[in-house]
Amino acid sequence: MMDRSMLAIALFASCFSVGTAQFGAAPAEASSLWPLQTFKSSSIQAPFMNVTKMGQTEPGYLFLTPEDISRNNGYPAMYSDDGELVWRGAEGNYSALQPQMLDGEPVMAYWSGFAGDGFGFGAISILDTSYREIHRVTLDCKSQNFVTVFEPMQFESCIDLHESQFTDDGTILVTAVNVTRADLGAIGGPKDGWIQDGLVYEIDIKTNEIRFRWSAHEHVDELPLSDVRAPLAGQGHNMTDPFGYPHLNSIHKYGDDYLVSSRYMCSIMLIAPNGTFIWHLHGETGGDFTLGLGTSFCYQHDPRFESQSPERVTISMHNNDNTEFTGHTSLTTGMVLDVELTGSKVASLKSRMWDAAQPVYAESQGSYQRLGNGHILQNHGATPKVEEYDAEGAIVMRARFGYDNTMQTYRTYRYPWIGRPTTKPHAVACPLEQSGKTAVYVSWNGATDVQSWKINSGSKVVHSALRNGFETSIWVDGLSSGQSVVVEAVGGVGDGTRSESVIVGQGC
Ligand SMILES: *[C@@H]1O[C@H](CO)[C@@H](O)[C@H](O)[C@H]1NC(C)=O
Ligand SMILES: *[C@@H]1O[C@H](CO)[C@@H](O)[C@H](O)[C@H]1NC(C)=O
Ligand SMILES: *[C@@H]1O[C@H](CO)[C@@H](O)[C@H](O)[C@H]1NC(C)=O
Ligand SMILES: *[C@@H]1O[C@H](CO)[C@@H](O)[C@H](O)[C@H]1NC(C)=O
Ligand SMILES: *[C@@H]1O[C@H](CO)[C@@H](O)[C@H](O)[C@H]1NC(C)=O
Repeated sequence: MMDRSMLAIALFASCFSVGTAQFGAAPAEASSLWPLQTFKSSSIQAPFMNVTKMGQTEPGYLFLTPEDISRNNGYPAMYSDDGELVWRGAEGNYSALQPQMLDGEPVMAYWSGFAGDGFGFGAISILDTSYREIHRVTLDCKSQNFVTVFEPMQFESCIDLHESQFTDDGTILVTAVNVTRADLGAIGGPKDGWIQDGLVYEIDIKTNEIRFRWSAHEHVDELPLSDVRAPLAGQGHNMTDPFGYPHLNSIHKYGDDYLVSSRYMCSIMLIAPNGTFIWHLHGETGGDFTLGLGTSFCYQHDPRFESQSPERVTISMHNNDNTEFTGHTSLTTGMVLDVELTGSKVASLKSRMWDAAQPVYAESQGSYQRLGNGHILQNHGATPKVEEYDAEGAIVMRARFGYDNTMQTYRTYRYPWIGRPTTKPHAVACPLEQSGKTAVYVSWNGATDVQSWKINSGSKVVHSALRNGFETSIWVDGLSSGQSVVVEAVGGVGDGTRSESVIVGQGC
């Protein structure tokens, strides 16, 4: 539990000088390419993960979808705490990667598809620990009459890129966007204007059956356009440039109710199964609540209940408070609020956390995850940096995987994982001119618990070496070009799995 000392830290924030001079990264950095991890035994590449630890971190791997903006590719990936790549999937557009439990088994869910500017049209893939797709959740665009800004382009599935949260009922919560007509008169726009509505869907994971649908715009009487903080900026006159309201970015289900986050409204709301509002917390006006000292938030990501009772909810979130249409002068922090549901109806600050030595002013995206022992994992989205905090709010890990504006990930979560790849380990054996030794390089994408590698030549074990990261390099004596070796995994769930036979000198 966060203690009261966090409040003191939070109040210190107001003394913290935040000058516009700190905006963004140093220009020199922004123009250079971030280093990639490359390997001899695999064509896979992934960003170098620069991990600095200041204390003990919680166990588990980091799951993220690094998007290399400068090289224009992205992929789902898993890293160990020492910054080593553990698994990387194929290239494409990915988002909302999240390990979860399905039927008592660990699985990994992520969105992939066609990426628009801050929204998308795609499907959720669910992979087992062997990295096989066991379910593909889709939302039929035609039967739901989706209208997109890309008309007349057709999409197979209209799930948006923001959410992939499972419920306990075998369903998944996702968002969707739909272009529709709206009266924008209240905010100075056309009466017969266009918006990109935000929708919530609950879908059965195995059958794709829709269990719940909710549209923000169908509740505009309860959640008025005047609550939107994103400026109209000339949008809304036609269906290819609709007003981007309300930009939903996370959904969780608590009991029968849905906790929904609207980025452009700076709103967190609880919705009943019949679609009506139970309450609405607005980050600037308070909505149904009164905002206490230091509790205002905006453009937030990943709000969830840390605890819930009939009297009070404790809500955690990643508070960006910056966007492409604001300055980048608001400090991005993790934030935990106590919200009194009865009586005073006051929202008060429980804790706030940020990396004072390397503060972030994230423009978009992000995640906030509560780990064991009161630790917090915070991801900064457009600023490619992940932080872990201990229960006292002290930073224990800082991990950077790109310069600002060169790399990003929508979310990053830490989870334990035992990978059982169906592939074989990959190896190459390359003679080293100088020493006369042979360098054997071996990797096994997605294997998490190999302890060591055995190099077999014929029926003889010629060498054994401890596994060392994604790729282990092993210097071996007494092998000559044209000879063949087989590398074998020792330890873990893949114990005894062998590579194909590798000819010394081939594929180097
Ligand atoms: C990695 O982090 C260390 C410690 O902060 C720093 O000295 C080094 O320059 C960083 N490397 C890159 C490529 O940013
Ligand atoms: C990724 O999204 C872009 C649009 O931003 C699209 O052109 C491309 O086809 C998508 N890639 C895949 C693999 O779906
Ligand atoms: C999308 O909007 C159109 C009107 O533009 C409407 O006919 C359709 O039902 C909407 N679809 C969804 C999923 O809300
Ligand atoms: C839609 O509106 C935008 C902004 O007002 C404008 O730039 C664009 O040309 C319009 N598109 C069409 C198809 O009229
Ligand atoms: C919808 O559900 C809420 C919460 O259960 C209830 O208070 C409200 O009366 C319901 N509204 C309608 C129109 O059924």
